[in-house]
Amino acid sequence: MKTLVIGAGGREHALALALSRDPSVSEVHAAPGNPGIAAFATVHDVDPMDPAAVASLAELLSCDLVVVGPEAPLVAGVADAVRERGISCFGPSADAAQLEGSKAFAKDVMAAAEVPTAMAHVCETPEQIEAALDAFGPPYVVKDDGLAAGKGVVVTDDRAVAQAHALGCERVVIEEFLDGPEVSLFAITDGVTVFPLLPAQDFKRIFDADQGPNTGGMGAYTPLPWAPEGLVEDVLARVLQPTVDELARRGATFSGLLYAGLALTRRGTKVIEFNARFGDPETQPLMALLDSPLGVLLKAAADGALHEVEQPRWKSGAAVAVVMASAGYPESSRSGDVITGTTEAQDQAQCDVIHAGTALVDGNLVTAGGRVLAVTAVGADLAEARAKAYAGVGAITFDGAQFRTDIAAKAAAGKDHV
Ligand code: AMP
Ligand code: GLY
Repeated sequence: MKTLVIGAGGREHALALALSRDPSVSEVHAAPGNPGIAAFATVHDVDPMDPAAVASLAELLSCDLVVVGPEAPLVAGVADAVRERGISCFGPSADAAQLEGSKAFAKDVMAAAEVPTAMAHVCETPEQIEAALDAFGPPYVVKDDGLAAGKGVVVTDDRAVAQAHALGCERVVIEEFLDGPEVSLFAITDGVTVFPLLPAQDFKRIFDADQGPNTGGMGAYTPLPWAPEGLVEDVLARVLQPTVDELARRGATFSGLLYAGLALTRRGTKVIEFNARFGDPETQPLMALLDSPLGVLLKAAADGALHEVEQPRWKSGAAVAVVMASAGYPESSRSGDVITGTTEAQDQAQCDVIHAGTALVDGNLVTAGGRVLAVTAVGADLAEARAKAYAGVGAITFDGAQFRTDIAAKAAAGKDHV
């Protein structure tokens, strides 16, 4: 089968790589892709935000399956445009992607489906904002209603900061603070059948020990040795399946990847947010550990035939991804720093070097974004996967490189707990 991956980040590189390792996949294309993807697939300079252009490319290439990576093209209707040409597409319709595109819509769906989540007020006036901040008290959780590329959420004890963020949003969701470790649980669905993947954990803050500002994610690992028994079954029954069923009931059938960001609170597991696409960087370790063919799975989901294929199978052991970011991230990012050592990380440390913000300039691989790459490794356990990933990181250099040294450290040492 011929496949086309839409997007340019680490998630898309990890997905494209897993597709290329599926024997039933004959060709992997990407638009626009990145230098890491270009090493084994054909990249096309097509705007991922242009539904007609993406659909025409898929048609021109006679693709059997299009996989849309990021949320913005989904919300813009890229999956709808591809399907209108009669081509299978993994990714929800624009309507269903509102689950990520609007926090207020997500809250409404969760209320209808009785999915446990933080209590929330949707506010549109300064008076409503004041009342909501009073009602919940600190720490304040203030979320821009719309897509904000990871910058829409402020969690703070400082009322003035919370207020300023809320007043800057057109519509804002102010909600109860959820205390407890965070888990990312992804599920592949065709709108009826739901296959959960392994739980993973992301590290959102830039510095070790969860210090400093939020980022897109500085590393991730899977599985979670500390996760409570029955977590996946519980979330499938109480969160994933009811949400998929509720969206179908509303005529906005969700097919694609349903991402539940969860907090394991003292009062049970609650949804922090839904996303309508694979998470980044959690996808990197998940794809490294996946043992069954990805193309078969995504095609079945796209075609409403998930019940006909096997559930995802996993290698034993664990996988860890460590993100290397450029100077200035997350406030800014520096481009043009020459990157060396990726071949050594791959060949000697046996890592996958997953590109995100890289570019090829005059034959040199250089930084071209905030999160530059993710060094991903598989091991017999988390400790081994970590050691391999950090050996890979040690082989790679560029000026101003930033990375956390504690990705999966507590879990590997048996120190994480609920
Ligand atoms: P989101 O963009 O919704 O993923 O939020 C970004 C981060 O803000 C989450 O990963 C959490 O760490 C934090 N966050 C969001 N909502 C809450 C909440 N209700 N309680 C505590 N932390 C939250
Ligand atoms: N890992 C966080 C995200 O993809 O939104």
